[in-house]
Amino acid sequence: MSAEVRLGRWQDVLADIRPDTVIVDAPYSERTHKGAIGNEEDADAMGSADGHSRVPILYPWWTGADVDAFVGSWAPRVSCWIVSITDTDLAPAWRASYEAHGLYAFPPLGIVISGMGVRMAADGPASWTLHLCVARRKGRGLSTAAPDKIWRSLPGGYTGPAASTMAGGRGKPAWLLDALVRDYSDPGMTIVDPCAGWGSTLVAARNVGRNAIGAEMDPAAFERCQHALSGDMAAYARAAPKREREADPDRPGLFDAIGGTP
Ligand SMILES: C[S@@+](CC[C@H](N)C(=O)[O-])C[C@H]1O[C@@H](n2cnc3c(N)ncnc32)[C@H](O)[C@@H]1O
Repeated sequence: MSAEVRLGRWQDVLADIRPDTVIVDAPYSERTHKGAIGNEEDADAMGSADGHSRVPILYPWWTGADVDAFVGSWAPRVSCWIVSITDTDLAPAWRASYEAHGLYAFPPLGIVISGMGVRMAADGPASWTLHLCVARRKGRGLSTAAPDKIWRSLPGGYTGPAASTMAGGRGKPAWLLDALVRDYSDPGMTIVDPCAGWGSTLVAARNVGRNAIGAEMDPAAFERCQHALSGDMAAYARAAPKREREADPDRPGLFDAIGGTP
């Protein structure tokens, strides 16, 4: 099995790829991105006493137009599924775009990442729940394991703990991507993650016998993704953003920061 990440925008560097399944955790909506801690001052005021990192989301948010351009590009090229992790605001845009581009769109599924940091100070929404927007090509033959099989048992949602690597919108938990890869592809298939981040989807795909190809436009994230794919976890750890740090008991806690008491 092969695993590869390409540096650049998916629009430019994955134009030649025709995957079986796309699994993507693309940028979320303006509301989620703006609600994240946006600068040093906010981050320092909130501290890290609860152990959650305060890495801001540094890449641009997506709008419905970005979602539609993505689905319009991949829908004709994918042979099985498009699987998108997204937020509440963009979930309707994913479903509408799937349908507009001729795919069969499922109702959004819930992903509950328990223990994920939920903001109690500063502005903006925060939630333990993400949404999984899934669509498939219409018709039969979605499984190479059994080409005539038209039914598959799939969970109605995904629940599990937060990962210590989660920061700034990247580093989604391995259990989640492992489940998505297994549920929406068969061994030997090719999975594409056009917004690879630190590579959690590509690693999961490679680990369970799928070919994995991704793109990442941010050079620092691309480098970390390469370390993940090569299995060099020491280099992966060294490439963590500077703001990702352990809880420091001397830093002000959340309730200090917002002027209240627990
Ligand atoms: C939510 S993060 C992905 C996180 C990833 N699942 C992980 O666990 O690390 C979205 C990523 O998409 C990248 N991105 C956004 N637009 C892109 C584009 N047009 N081409 C390639 N990468 C893009 C961002 O730089 C960011 O790293």
